[in-house]
Amino acid sequence: MITISHLTKIYEGDGQRVTALEDVSLHIEKGDVYGVIGMSGAGKSTLLRCLTHLERPTSGEILLSGQNLAALSGARLRAARRGMGVVFQGYNLLMQKTVAENVAFPLKLEKGYDKAAVSARVAELLELVGLGGRARAYPAQLSGGQKQRVAIARALATSPGILLCDEPTSALDPLTTKAMLALLTNINQKLGVTILIITHELSVVRAVCTHVAVISEGRLAESGAVPDVFGRPQSDVTRLLLGREPVDGSEKGE
Ligand SMILES: Nc1ncnc2c1ncn2[C@@H]1O[C@H](COP(=O)(O)OP(=O)(O)O)[C@@H](O)[C@H]1O
Ligand SMILES: [Mg+2]
Repeated sequence: MITISHLTKIYEGDGQRVTALEDVSLHIEKGDVYGVIGMSGAGKSTLLRCLTHLERPTSGEILLSGQNLAALSGARLRAARRGMGVVFQGYNLLMQKTVAENVAFPLKLEKGYDKAAVSARVAELLELVGLGGRARAYPAQLSGGQKQRVAIARALATSPGILLCDEPTSALDPLTTKAMLALLTNINQKLGVTILIITHELSVVRAVCTHVAVISEGRLAESGAVPDVFGRPQSDVTRLLLGREPVDGSEKGE
């Protein structure tokens, strides 16, 4: 579904040079729930921005379903982007618009969606994320978890094959986190949507991910199936992440 080869991203400006990602290679298969874990500043959000080509990689290649994103422009790049739903950290909702208007927003640019088709799709998406009754509410009237659900519904509006989520639970309390992870699992299993979750929380990867990539200071420390990586960690940073998990971790007793 997504192949990242030798991705490097260097930010330059004000005489500063920050290597945010260096020679990162990953392969995400259709149907995976793929976790990218690392400490703050590791380059996780940069990876997501490069994947959507909001940020042009300095070097390296990203293939989305076999298509090289860097070779696309204009309408073809927009079409490729439509195949990826993005849930940004901090939700990025339009505050002056209702829940329904936020979810409808990506459909305004779509062909074949007249007014009736848009309302039907919005109703279906709000039902899916458990917000059937809140269509007319404004974001300010919602809890953090509910705002995150609106952002997920909006990201899914154009039926993307992959959903990219940046720290989807970092602002949520443990119970809301659990419900959010159940929703993402449901979306993966019921709709067959491939999911990439960026997180700094080991418990999130443990709870829902099939695969994980550990990144540290812009480099890939290791990657693979979750039981392999967490069962036999090969890098110091993975061991550090595992060691930091409280002994009474949240999965216990569930
Ligand atoms: N637009 C930018 N310009 C310059 N440096 C940036 C920019 N965005 C991120 N960085 C730097 O790149 C590194 C990785 O950042 P980021 O991808 O946001 O990490 P993470 O999401 O893992 O916390 C950090 O050192 C950060 O300061
Ligand atoms: Mg980040």
